Amino acid sequence: MESIKVGLLGLGVVGGGTWKVLARNAQEISRRAGRSIEVTRVAVRDVTRARALLGPDVVVGADPHAVVCDPSIDIVVELIGGETLARELVLEAIANGKHVVTANKALLAKHGNEIFAAASARGVIVAFEAAVAGGIPIIKAMREGLTANRIQWVAGIINGTTNFILSEMRTHGLPFETVLAQAQKLGYAEADPTFDIEGVDAAHKLTLLASLAFGIPVQFDKAYIEGISKLAAVDIKMAERLGYRIKLLGITKRRPLGIELRVHPALVPSKSLLANVEGAMNAVLVNGDAVGQTLYYGKGAGEEPTASAVVADLVDVTRLLTSDPEHRVPHLAFQPDAMADTPILSIEEVITSYYLRLTVADQPGVLADLTRLLADSGISIGSMIQQPSEDQDMADLIFLTHQALERDVNIAITAIEALPFVRSHVTRLRMESLT
Ligand code: NDP
Ligand code: HSE
Repeated sequence: MESIKVGLLGLGVVGGGTWKVLARNAQEISRRAGRSIEVTRVAVRDVTRARALLGPDVVVGADPHAVVCDPSIDIVVELIGGETLARELVLEAIANGKHVVTANKALLAKHGNEIFAAASARGVIVAFEAAVAGGIPIIKAMREGLTANRIQWVAGIINGTTNFILSEMRTHGLPFETVLAQAQKLGYAEADPTFDIEGVDAAHKLTLLASLAFGIPVQFDKAYIEGISKLAAVDIKMAERLGYRIKLLGITKRRPLGIELRVHPALVPSKSLLANVEGAMNAVLVNGDAVGQTLYYGKGAGEEPTASAVVADLVDVTRLLTSDPEHRVPHLAFQPDAMADTPILSIEEVITSYYLRLTVADQPGVLADLTRLLADSGISIGSMIQQPSEDQDMADLIFLTHQALERDVNIAITAIEALPFVRSHVTRLRMESLT
């Protein structure tokens, strides 16, 4: 049978890995796909470097539009990144009747509704396994393996760069900037690393997971996003002392009035599975009503782990080429005409437990006033520690609360910061028991 012809846009970390894995495992892949999968055309900026790598059989050029318009290409693999040109190219490929494979979570989180609608109308597939958690087949699991379930929540470590930074800071006490530079060198970080550090990349991925879990359109603009750049080393240490670790989590949860969609640093019990996901590893925990919790763990970034997911999509598309488009697995797991308009809840509607740290004047009545204020706001204290502050006559206090409504916590924090004996802002971190 004739080989499937692939047009590759981008030959960077993921594109280069895809080329390597396809070449090394060509025979195994064609045994699985039923046909061989061949990259015949590539677009990059640095054509000379690409030609040297790919050899004479591949057409290499600097114009990605030429690839998506090439009638001989069956599948376009978009690995350029970014939103503007990538969106243009993906829509052009779809309009030309080509299937698309992409690792571009930013593109799909922002323009997924438009792209999936265009693909459905044209009867082509847009596959995106590599866009969430790199090499972990989480999209496949949620779209196919868990279809029997009413999913209750998904929580994950879905950004390798920040997990790597938090792990190195905690275990080796290394400074933030040093570890970030290492992550960039290892190819984990996005072209703009603020996407990683500020939680934006995790929110892109979480947006897609929420759609797959609950059958809602992609709504990146409604996600609550808080990164790790303001996280203080003292809180990482205190969390450890209290039996927790701080992780940048993406959490999406079904609640009676809507869906939580939030990315932020969170304290998780140090014995929990997620707390022990270290380095650039990713893990996604999915809670379904029938199956209970299932955990998906693996490399969330890097050359070959991400290529593993890209190639899996290529095989999937190859196997489905002749299938009736009406009977394929829907892009977002639910049939397009069965998508729900369940609202995304604002962060103020979130209910969770909290870690609150503040510095106060060490004088009589302080604790009584603070606990009364928290009680008046409907916030119950789970535990509390007090220790001498670095400043004389001051004390550092840490409260761990029971579950509370974020709006009530905000009101309490504002009131606490206005008290005359309070000498710092209140550091607030959310805590997740993940049960
Ligand atoms: P890189 O920056 O390493 O590679 C980008 C590639 O695109 C380069 O080969 C570059 O060409 C090419 N390119 C950029 N602009 C153009 C253009 N205008 N015309 C032609 N070619 C162009 O990115 P990554 O491989 O790291 O990431 C690619 C995508 O995969 C992104 O969407 C990213 O978010 C996603 N992703 C990345 C992961 C990772 O671990 N790195 C993991 C999961 C997803 P040249 O080489 O000539 O500069
Ligand atoms: N920058 C991303 C990360 C790459 O660090 O996880 C994988 O999507």
